[in-house]
Amino acid sequence: MRIIHTADYEDMSRKAASVIAAQVVLKPDCVLGLATGSTPIGAYQELVRRHESGELDFSQVSTYNLDEYRGLTHDDPQSYHYFMERELFSHINIDPARTHVPDGANEDAEAACAEYDELVAGAGYPDLQLLGIGNNGHIGFNEPADAFSKGTHCIDLTESTIEANSRLFESPEDVPRQAYTMGIQTIMRARRVVVVASGEKKAQAVRDMCQGPISPACPASILQLHPDVIVIADKDALSLCN
Ligand code: GLP
Repeated sequence: MRIIHTADYEDMSRKAASVIAAQVVLKPDCVLGLATGSTPIGAYQELVRRHESGELDFSQVSTYNLDEYRGLTHDDPQSYHYFMERELFSHINIDPARTHVPDGANEDAEAACAEYDELVAGAGYPDLQLLGIGNNGHIGFNEPADAFSKGTHCIDLTESTIEANSRLFESPEDVPRQAYTMGIQTIMRARRVVVVASGEKKAQAVRDMCQGPISPACPASILQLHPDVIVIADKDALSLCN
């Protein structure tokens, strides 16, 4: 694991955008695994800025998002599909047919997850997977568990995740209780993983990810076994790391 220390959120966002931009320049038809949450927003804004200044061409890039709330349609403003449109896709020259998010509207969890697994496998897995990290060490929506998950699956969100994510909904009751998420095995197949983390709230999870035992109690800790992980985090998020 390489850890890049950044001064603050803006610095973290610029550095993360630089790593993603380098991937797009080196391989214009690359496959990007993308994440939602507040943390990557700054990096997406920076990518948009670089696209607008003519530095970045996304026309050949394909994207696969990590996860989606079960039961939300693509045009629901709370869905991750909508989030990606709003924060990134509508501002860059990506081909909409090359962007993929699990289909939350498909209530048949088995079918929705199997279909997504096939799509990601068919694309050859991401060249670069961007990840945020939950306060409890989750990646995608892979919550702390007794075992590491494999492919895309339906997950029951933990109370702590529902509470953390409720800030984006009108009330905690409005947060969907389930989600479809790429599994840990799928995430580990990406050739490069970039984790972004900012703020004190993430400090324990970042420490467990980088320095804790490798355990499904902290799903992100499995990344210690991946050969190419870059953690880009600000000083608050790294405050508990030695
Ligand atoms: C959600 C997403 C994760 C994300 C996490 C942290 O649960 N499924 O992919 O990493 O939130 O979000 P934030 O960056 O807003 O703290």
